[in-house]
Amino acid sequence: MSLQIFSERPVSEEDPLDLMDEIEALKKEKDASILAHFYVDGEIQDIADFTGDSLKLARDATKVTTSTIVFAGVHFMGESAKIMNPEKRVLIPDMLAGCSLADSCPPDQLAAFQDQLRAQGRDFQTVAYINTSAAVKSLVDWIVTSGNAREIIDRVPADKEILFVPDQHLGRYLIEVTGRKMILWPGSCMVHEVFSIQDLIRIKKRTPGCVIMAHPECPQNILELTDVVGGTEKMRQHVMSVEKPTTFLVATEAAMIHPLQKAAPQHTYIPVPGITASTGETCACNRCPHMSRNTLQKVRDCLKNGGPEIEWKDYFQKARAVLDKSLLK
Ligand code: 13P
Repeated sequence: MSLQIFSERPVSEEDPLDLMDEIEALKKEKDASILAHFYVDGEIQDIADFTGDSLKLARDATKVTTSTIVFAGVHFMGESAKIMNPEKRVLIPDMLAGCSLADSCPPDQLAAFQDQLRAQGRDFQTVAYINTSAAVKSLVDWIVTSGNAREIIDRVPADKEILFVPDQHLGRYLIEVTGRKMILWPGSCMVHEVFSIQDLIRIKKRTPGCVIMAHPECPQNILELTDVVGGTEKMRQHVMSVEKPTTFLVATEAAMIHPLQKAAPQHTYIPVPGITASTGETCACNRCPHMSRNTLQKVRDCLKNGGPEIEWKDYFQKARAVLDKSLLK
């Protein structure tokens, strides 16, 4: 049986085109830029100044020239933008847009586990996926995204063990591709964990010649069936590199279909699980309930109200040094 994730999204009475016009005007009036992750609604991506994967957006955040950044994504992304831009005002459309991965690794539990390893005489460095809180980032040696993980892991001295937090599936995949031994934190992403292997096999059988693309946050049984394993930008680059119209089965957050379609409209994209009805109808089931808290209304409202805002915390300074050496150097 495939699981579906639903989020509470009140239906808007407001015309999306009017909202987009209002947002454009507010951006000028408030001297603001919008950064949007590939997992937010397509209409928000369309009005953004920067769109991308976690790595590109973290880098883009350092190039923004306006005094305000609106980050349409989830809380840890807004936090990272603030860490890189202490002097700017960083707003997020909904303070409750969190991340199951970030939640799975509370900083006090990580610190206690690191102490325990040190007490055992283990010589290790901690590598954290960017999907963590700033408090966790301040406790680690390196930050990776799906886009630079290999490169960063190669920078960890070969004589050190690696404690990888918090995504056990991404960690297992990185063990496979880098050959490094890692101690894995038992976290996982609620969206990437719910793909049904049965659904995937069924769709694959029904779709001759299809290509399966999956995010490395997916469990091993999904990745074993996958043709292209990669983060969101790698998926985008891949579909652009294929000229011949192809059907792609996409195992990641369903909003990702929007940038793929924009980048390479010659292809057909089916979100996994895509076919749930015997009629052969497709549905986009795998929406992240946190990402989908971002709406055009909330983008407009946060610009208008100047909040919710990410406030600077003391430990951001330490997290900044780690983000800086990991993502910018
Ligand atoms: P990307 O870096 O591939 O965009 O992944 C973002 C993410 O949060 C996946 O859950």
